[in-house]
Amino acid sequence: MTGEASGEERHPTSMDGWEDRAQNWIRWARTPNFDAYWLYRDAFFAEVVPAPGRATLEVGCGEGRVARDLAARGHLVTAVEPSPSLLQAARAADPVSKYVMACAEQLPFPDGSFDLVVAYNSLMDVDDMPLAVAETARVLAPKGRLAVCVTHPLSDAGDFVGLEEDAPFQIAGSYLGRRRFSGHFERAGLAMDFDGWAFDLDSYSRALEACGLGIERMREPAPSGDRLPRRNRIPNFLMFRACRLSA
Ligand SMILES: C[S@@+](CC[C@H](N)C(=O)[O-])C[C@H]1O[C@@H](n2cnc3c(N)ncnc32)[C@H](O)[C@@H]1O
Repeated sequence: MTGEASGEERHPTSMDGWEDRAQNWIRWARTPNFDAYWLYRDAFFAEVVPAPGRATLEVGCGEGRVARDLAARGHLVTAVEPSPSLLQAARAADPVSKYVMACAEQLPFPDGSFDLVVAYNSLMDVDDMPLAVAETARVLAPKGRLAVCVTHPLSDAGDFVGLEEDAPFQIAGSYLGRRRFSGHFERAGLAMDFDGWAFDLDSYSRALEACGLGIERMREPAPSGDRLPRRNRIPNFLMFRACRLSA
């Protein structure tokens, strides 16, 4: 299949839904202060992302807001994304960074190409999370870092029973293992379908261990606003930074 925008080879994935909902995602992600990104990105950039080095890769960049924020902080960014429409939107909004059509599980870069790989809310969407993590390890230079934000494994396992600040949080199914996640969200005239995977902490830890990466920082940040105060009790996102255990 050929990407409409660029003539590049398209990498089919079971997440082809992202191409179908590309326009919804562009509206959703580009509406300032609309989704959780705006409440959590400061914590990610301040506490998890290291200082810019020689070359930074973002995997699963979508319409490109994280890549643009990295570039604004001095990173020399290459970003990969399998959805042609999202890739085109990312390129159109940022003429400086390099945007490449690819899947995280098959990165078209030589070993050791980057000193930082960023995966912001994309490891839950790839078909094969352990393979995607292994690919990031392969393209990392010996002292490179992997900076990750994922939906928190606990948050993904259950939900608040009610909207009030002290609403109980209930896990109706299981926390353990890999579970399908899907949800339809509508707010303020915008709609978005999310479907992907939810993983327990064990799955992320094993994926890192399998390719020789170890966690050097882990954060469960509270939101920087108070729109959803119950989120101060159960973390919405898990952020961590990993590096090679032996360089
Ligand atoms: C929730 S969006 C996050 C986009 C961006 N990182 C952000 O935070 O705004 C998840 C992205 O992962 C991408 N994705 C899905 N499967 C992928 C894969 N196998 N490899 C790389 N990216 C993938 C989707 O197309 C989508 O753009």
